[in-house]
This record gives sequence, C-alpha cells and structure tokens, in this order.
Amino acid sequence: MAEEKQTIFSGMQPSGFITLGNYLGALRNWTQLQEEYQCLYCIVDLHAITVRQDPASLRRQSRELLMQYIAAGLDPEKNIVYVQSHVPAHAELGWVLNCFTYMGELSRMTQFKEKSQKHADNINAGLFTYPVLMAADILLYQTDLVPVGEDQRQHLEITRDIALRFNRLYGDVFKIPEGYIGKVGARVMALQQPDKKMSKSDENKNNTIALLDDPAVIRNKFKKAMTDSENEVRYDPEHKPGVSNLLSIYCAVTDQTMAEAEREFANVGYGNFKAAVGDAVVEKLLPIQKKVAELDKNKDYLEAVLKTNAERANAIAQKTLRKVHKKLGFLPRG
Ligand code: TYM
Repeated sequence: MAEEKQTIFSGMQPSGFITLGNYLGALRNWTQLQEEYQCLYCIVDLHAITVRQDPASLRRQSRELLMQYIAAGLDPEKNIVYVQSHVPAHAELGWVLNCFTYMGELSRMTQFKEKSQKHADNINAGLFTYPVLMAADILLYQTDLVPVGEDQRQHLEITRDIALRFNRLYGDVFKIPEGYIGKVGARVMALQQPDKKMSKSDENKNNTIALLDDPAVIRNKFKKAMTDSENEVRYDPEHKPGVSNLLSIYCAVTDQTMAEAEREFANVGYGNFKAAVGDAVVEKLLPIQKKVAELDKNKDYLEAVLKTNAERANAIAQKTLRKVHKKLGFLPRG
C-alpha cells in the first residue's frame, strides 16, 4: 500500500549541466529507491538563484534536468518529479523556518563560506539562508530519508536541528529525516584536480564530465585526467587521489567492487586504464543521452509531467504547511 511506504526527498540545482558527480552521488541511487519508497525529486530552481543565473539558460537547464531525471530511470508516475517554484509551500515554510534558525549556525555552513568566497560581489541573504530553504524542502513532505552526496551532510544536520527545535516548541510537527549517503560515488573528485570535488560550476571543463557530454569528449577528458608518477593502479585516496578517483568512478559505473577493479588493472598502464574508465562511463551514459534526445522531442509530455507532479507535491505540502500555521497561531485560510 502506497500509504505505508516511507518518504524520500531529494533535489538538484538546475544551475549548470549536471555532472557525473551528481549522477553517481545522487541520481543513480534515486533510481534504485523508487520501488520501495514514496519519492519526491525536485528541481530546485529557488536555490539556484542564490547565485546569478541567466534566465534563458536557467529555463533550458531546468528542462534538461527534468529530462535527465527521467532518462536516468526515474519514472514520473511512480515518483513525484517537479519544479520547486511550482509549489509555493517551499518558500512559505522557508520563511517560517528562518524565524527558527540562528545566524550563528548558518555562519558555520562550509558551503556558504565557499560560495561567498567564490561570489564575493554577490553575498546575498538568500545564499546565507539557503540551508533553511533546504530544510523546508525536506520537512514539508515528512521525509524519512534524504539521498545525497557527501557534500550535503552539514545541510542535513542543520535540517534535523531546526526540526527538533520546532518540535520541542510546538509538539510533533515534523518527522526527523535521516541522510542516505551511498558508499561508492558519494564524492566524485575533479579529474584534473582530484583534491577537490567535481562541481558543475567549475570553470575548467576538463575537471567535470557532464552527463550530456559527447562520448568523444568524455573519452578525451578521461585521457587527460590527472594520475601520479607511479604506474600502479591501486586504491589509496591519500597518496594516489587521481587514480583512486578513477577507480571509484569505474566501480560505480560497472558495479564492481574495488578489489575486483584493482585485480582487473593489476598490470595495466595508466594510459589503458584511463581509456577503460572512459569507455565504461560512456557505456553507462550513452543510453541516458539517447533517452534525453527522445524526450526532447516531446514537449507536451514534459509539460504534462510537470503539471501533474506539481499538483501531487502541492497536496502533500499543504498538509504540513496547514499544520505549521495552526501551531504558530495563524488564522485559518477561509
Ligand atoms: P547540488 O545540485 O549541488 O547536487 C545535487 C546532488 O549531487 C551530489 N553531488 C555529488 N555527489 C558526489 N560527488 C560529487 N562531486 C557531487 N557533487 C554534487 C550532491 O550531494 C547532491 O546530492 N543543496 C542541494 C540541493 C537541494 C537538496 C534539497 C538536496 C536543495 N534542497 C533537499 C536534498 C534535499 C545541492 O546544492 O545539490
């Protein structure tokens, strides 16, 4: 029975082309959860505007993200796949939760510190309160589980803190969510600078693999990936970050264990190793790319998906919002 299923919520920003990191850290895991859980997967456009976006690009990227969600295997009938700005309750609960979140705890967020360094000319209040909106996203749906990559751990902790604080004051309003961080692929590193994570906003495009990169481009980026001066394919993230990152990617896309992969490449030189990783990634991404190209021709279908799913999300979100408003002492809406 659908009612008995636990709820999952997660989202991605349509702030650029989604990367292999987003796929392995999050999207791939999402597709494996859709049978057992009631899942909501959001395109978080409200979050994306915390840094400046070009309107035409944002529109295109949001639509592309929807296509990639579906093409990667999220069935929009089983899952609620929708755009954040289509469900006003996110912003409404975000405001309420702002009044239950402290400046001190927000100033400790590493992502805020990083982003305000990177966008020093635009350290806006939205960037600062970003984690509060994220808490609202999650808490609106009485979420049990939040599947994300490693970099979101701190945001999940603050979500739990805000929920616990609210519950202490008003009773059992919010379910306290747990994070779900995969073992393999939770932190895919930049190909040329394996000491930092792969990020869609990276200016060096050779650091990132976009899900929709051309196969030749993908192979070439892996060929150029940074390794080290040894010639031994071995998992050792501390001393061999480049090779270890490539091995993790390989394991994630081929579903092999690290021991199996190390055995496979035991006497293989770096050149051939990198080519094999590139091939394996292309093999995984090509079917997704083909599906995106098909979906791209079907504008009406995509619009219908967005409309129905926003309605489904809205119905659930309204329940929580009503409860919150009542607890706070707001007069009921007529
Ligand atoms: P975003 O858009 O930066 O990333 C989307 C998802 O991809 C994961 N990820 C990675 N995983 C492994 N290796 C990497 N290099 C890598 N880079 C990104 C992220 O951990 C994330 O799971 N704040 C969120 C979006 C969000 C959200 C939410 C998530 C808004 N509201 C509510 C969960 C629940 C973000 O910026 O993700």
